[in-house]
Amino acid sequence: MIIFDDKNKTFRLKTRNTEYAMRIVHEKYVVHLYYGGKNHCRGDACKEKIVDFAPYIAEVGESFSLDTIPTELSFFDSGDTKDVAVKIKNANGDATTLFYYKTYRVFEGREELKDLPHSRGGDQTLELIYFDEVSACVLRSYYTIFEECDTIVRYAKFENSGKNTVYIEQASACQLDIAGGDYSLVTLAGDYCCERNIAESPVHVGIQGIYSKRGHSSHRSNPFLALKEKSASENKGEAYAFEFVYSGDFEARVEKSFSGKLRVLMGLNRDTFSWCLESGETFYTPETILTYSAEGMNKLSQNLHDHIRGHIMPPRFAYAERPVVINTWEAMHFNFDESKALQYALRAKSLDMDMIVIDDGWYGNRCNDASGLGDWYVNRKKFTEGLAAFSEKVHAIGLKLGIWIEPEMISPNSDLYKKHPDWVLCSRGRKASFGRKQLVLDLANDEVVDYIVNALKRTLFGVKFEYIKWDFNRCLSEAGSAVLPAERQSETKHRFMLGSYRMHRLLTEAFPDVLFEGCSGGGGRFDAGMLYYCPQIWASDNTDPVCRLPIQKGTLLAYPPSALSAHVTVTRYNKLETSPDLSFRFNVACDGILGYEMDITRLDAGQETQIRDQIVRYKAIQHLLLGGDVYIPSDLQNGEYATLIVAKDKSEFVLLYRNTGAEKRDRLPLCGLKPSAEYEDAAGNRIKGDSLEFSNVCIQNKSDYSFLIFYGKII
Ligand code: GLA
Repeated sequence: MIIFDDKNKTFRLKTRNTEYAMRIVHEKYVVHLYYGGKNHCRGDACKEKIVDFAPYIAEVGESFSLDTIPTELSFFDSGDTKDVAVKIKNANGDATTLFYYKTYRVFEGREELKDLPHSRGGDQTLELIYFDEVSACVLRSYYTIFEECDTIVRYAKFENSGKNTVYIEQASACQLDIAGGDYSLVTLAGDYCCERNIAESPVHVGIQGIYSKRGHSSHRSNPFLALKEKSASENKGEAYAFEFVYSGDFEARVEKSFSGKLRVLMGLNRDTFSWCLESGETFYTPETILTYSAEGMNKLSQNLHDHIRGHIMPPRFAYAERPVVINTWEAMHFNFDESKALQYALRAKSLDMDMIVIDDGWYGNRCNDASGLGDWYVNRKKFTEGLAAFSEKVHAIGLKLGIWIEPEMISPNSDLYKKHPDWVLCSRGRKASFGRKQLVLDLANDEVVDYIVNALKRTLFGVKFEYIKWDFNRCLSEAGSAVLPAERQSETKHRFMLGSYRMHRLLTEAFPDVLFEGCSGGGGRFDAGMLYYCPQIWASDNTDPVCRLPIQKGTLLAYPPSALSAHVTVTRYNKLETSPDLSFRFNVACDGILGYEMDITRLDAGQETQIRDQIVRYKAIQHLLLGGDVYIPSDLQNGEYATLIVAKDKSEFVLLYRNTGAEKRDRLPLCGLKPSAEYEDAAGNRIKGDSLEFSNVCIQNKSDYSFLIFYGKII
């Protein structure tokens, strides 16, 4: 519910458990009052007082300074000397920016964005309309509430209503000023093969932040940030989260003043973005999802999971059962052909898997990673009768078919590059760097997007397939575009992202019944922007189960289990004889959407039976992964990883427990179950849900690694 109290000029945005409040003061300024638990807003956070050396607005009085008052949006060089949200370079050459509040509008639902991924639905939207007299730009700042998820989505639209061209140099549409408090900053940090590890550090005086300048949201940082009270734990204490619905360069910064005031900003990366806005043009920022929890980090994650499943993922797939796949990559890399793939398909069918995914290597002259990208026609040496005939054979076996693509990239020795060397991203006068022996297509050029989309459509129409794995195997560098004029070169990376989103939209529209899985050299583009098109994303190229545990734990902090693709693998580095057994690998993969990557034609009878049994067990819990609430039990020791998923109605739960540490335990406090209920698993083991915090379940110790899957149902 959004309420405007005309007497106090106060807006209150209420969700199920939270409230966000702001006030118009001196008619032109929007100050931030409160974000937190419902009905706790006191409304005195914006007391004005004279502060020496703070610039003040003379016409209002010495006690009103944008430097000291909490605001909803801050503007460059107009009295707020902290890190600010918005900066416009005016036609007169300076970048002083000051948008005055003019009026507001509240409407049901939200505005649909055509070119950007965004949260679908929404209950109500508050639109605050501002105007900057010098640049003659209108700024519309939006707040859409999602009451059931306890989330608020923020984004902005700029309109140049003047005659002169201006440049948007900073556009962080999400700002949150917090009066004070002792917080820790929680982010997801990593690198290739160790993405999204939870990193926690005290918020200190000064600026801390995360960013990507790699052209994808990246392995190194993830567009997610949380602030948690120092004393908060999994189930107690206050916390805020910010998640950017964007897959390219971003930044999120936290500034703490000496007096303890905090400001959080999230938006496009100011170093790699600037946008030329000509008279009459408009520009939309990507949006940020905000949430608040008074019940610790688990509730924060649950709010985000509900939001992503209910409002980001394509509705057709969000809660739908996902196929258990056999993927060809780890077992065969580029060395497969139709006959090998069919052997795998036959064996996969006998193991009760649902789908075979033909990974990289089926197209063009793709025999290794140096060739073929861009040539999206079937490799007839490998598939002599073509893909349509192959897909018929796969379906005759009783399996579904998945196909790998990497449409944003090009190999320098492809036919496409020979024809269109100017279709790659490259700054003028420079040589483009390589990444995995490949170059990046210039998706700021609509012609390139249309060409690739049509080439893929031509090749895939007529082929029966149910899944696409969409990869993105390098980061961007020398990001210049041959089709943009000099004054628009700094738009290239955002335009590249818009081109990529257009490609995603056109291909998902062309194949509406196909499930798309995202990927970027593992988990380099694991973000809410991608989840808008691809409801699941390959979490990491590191499939060693012990290494996967922290990656998956971090991922689940911000994204639901149904977003996380996890396979039981045997690879060159991760052989069955030398590392954990199949059960442990399976247990770890159960954090997300299960698949297999190994030579299934060489399993012994025992392993075959084990895999069949795993798939039955997985299918019995998949509905919990698709729609349940994730709880991470408190007080886990070093090396212990537990994911507890409880059905929304609390009627059943699954506990995935892994212990790779030295300390063994035999009891684990659970949470989130129904206190009055008794739960039972298939073997008749019982557990009482009676105390939310201290129900205990027996933990078995087995071989090197403790593991357990406990599935219980209310009896
Ligand atoms: C990336 C992916 C892998 C595989 C290869 C194929 O690294 O993460 O799963 O698809 O590309 O080239």
